[in-house]
Amino acid sequence: MTKRTIIITGGAGFIGSHVVRLFVNKYPEYRIINLDKLTYAGNLANLKDIEDKPNYRFVKMDICDFEGVYQLMQEEHVDGIIHLAAESHVDRSIKDPFTFAQTNVMGTLSMLQAAKLYWESLTTPYVMQDVDRLPSSLAHVIPTEERGSVSMGKELGMTSTPCRFYHISTDEVYGALEMTHPQGIEPPFTTKASSGEHHLAYGEKFFTEDLKYQPHSPYSAAKASSDHFVRAFHDTYGMPTVVTNCSNNYGPYQFPEKLIPLFINNIRHRKPLPVYGKGENVRDWLFVEDHARAIDLIFHEGKVAETYNIGGFNEWKNIDIIHVLIKTVDRLLGRPEGADEDLITYVTDRAGHDMRYAIDSTKLQKELGWEPSLQFEEGIEKTVRWYLDNQEWMDNVTSGDYQKYYDDMYANR
Ligand code: NAD
Ligand code: TYD
Repeated sequence: MTKRTIIITGGAGFIGSHVVRLFVNKYPEYRIINLDKLTYAGNLANLKDIEDKPNYRFVKMDICDFEGVYQLMQEEHVDGIIHLAAESHVDRSIKDPFTFAQTNVMGTLSMLQAAKLYWESLTTPYVMQDVDRLPSSLAHVIPTEERGSVSMGKELGMTSTPCRFYHISTDEVYGALEMTHPQGIEPPFTTKASSGEHHLAYGEKFFTEDLKYQPHSPYSAAKASSDHFVRAFHDTYGMPTVVTNCSNNYGPYQFPEKLIPLFINNIRHRKPLPVYGKGENVRDWLFVEDHARAIDLIFHEGKVAETYNIGGFNEWKNIDIIHVLIKTVDRLLGRPEGADEDLITYVTDRAGHDMRYAIDSTKLQKELGWEPSLQFEEGIEKTVRWYLDNQEWMDNVTSGDYQKYYDDMYANR
């Protein structure tokens, strides 16, 4: 059994909590450290079922806290990082781009630099021997008695351990695809995630790994910048990095600022459903546990310096998904079918709203054999049921500042 100590950043968020749960349960021999600042999006209730497991530790920390992160890596003898922590909501990025640059760009850089210095300390003696070569802000984190000691990696027997910095990114960095076929065309690809009922593509082009980045929102611009830094750390310093770009996720524990949980909650409470523009924008949806499975596979078997796109070939226009959500919530709550269609309210479009996202994940399928496990209809049913069955979770996350957020975002739209 290989022992590993892995930091997962953003583990208290939506996708991160599924990744932490998967790793803690699947790899009892690993030590999983969840590093999260617990912003409005971070919630330890997402991890109630695994919080007492012996191979799990939670550390409340900001990824921008370079010295804290470096110290944690030393203390825990970390040999892998899966980096998910980020500001993740496009609408918030439009209102407050600075926070997105700070967390997504500077936070990622802080993680990278800490990992670089830490891993160098495992394989080369100079960090320990020559404190003068460290940035002055770091010198004091090396205890005086350890200065001049030989390679810490050798002492720990870790020099041959493969280490890895795995950065989780988004398809939004590629920009927007054109909607060349608004009526939909027969798609060239299919996977288990592709909806049985609705499997259409809305254009001929897809996002492939070799596409030029063309981000439009402050969120995707900040993610793009962080992706560039990760690749620069490989190309410049030889850091063993991997980047993946995934399509829109859905499933349990998603904060109700994003389309699917927000609309399920509003339908339940018979509140208006704010559809941006004409509701014709297209997103490509993947069940979150399938993303977590892909992350597990790529962390262990993905090639260093590679990029993999993750998606299920499952394109939907927003308005079509909204009809499915209304139908499903009404059925599960015993309301007459379509009873809540009148809640649909068209509102001012999002600024710079990307028209279509569609991921081509053929590379991941061919090279590593990944396939989604769940068909979209099953995934949506599971997801709606989960939110309806977990009203207490929803009530908790929508108490406090949520109402203010909602008013700021939607009151005069
Ligand atoms: P989320 O907003 O639900 O969770 C983000 C987590 O990061 C929270 O737990 C938050 O507390 C933590 N965090 C934020 N700032 C932090 C900081 N400075 N220091 C430490 N922790 C901090 O996000 P998500 O939807 O789970 O997305 C996770 C990652 O996956 C992000 O990098 C996002 O760009 C990427 N992604 C998301 C999607 C999606 O559909 N949600 C799709 C593709 C990629
Ligand atoms: P969202 O879940 O915010 O994800 P992203 O913008 O990262 O794709 O939005 C999904 C789609 O739903 C997007 O086209 C915007 C649209 N949308 C609405 O129409 N109304 C809403 O209230 C929200 C939050 C999103």
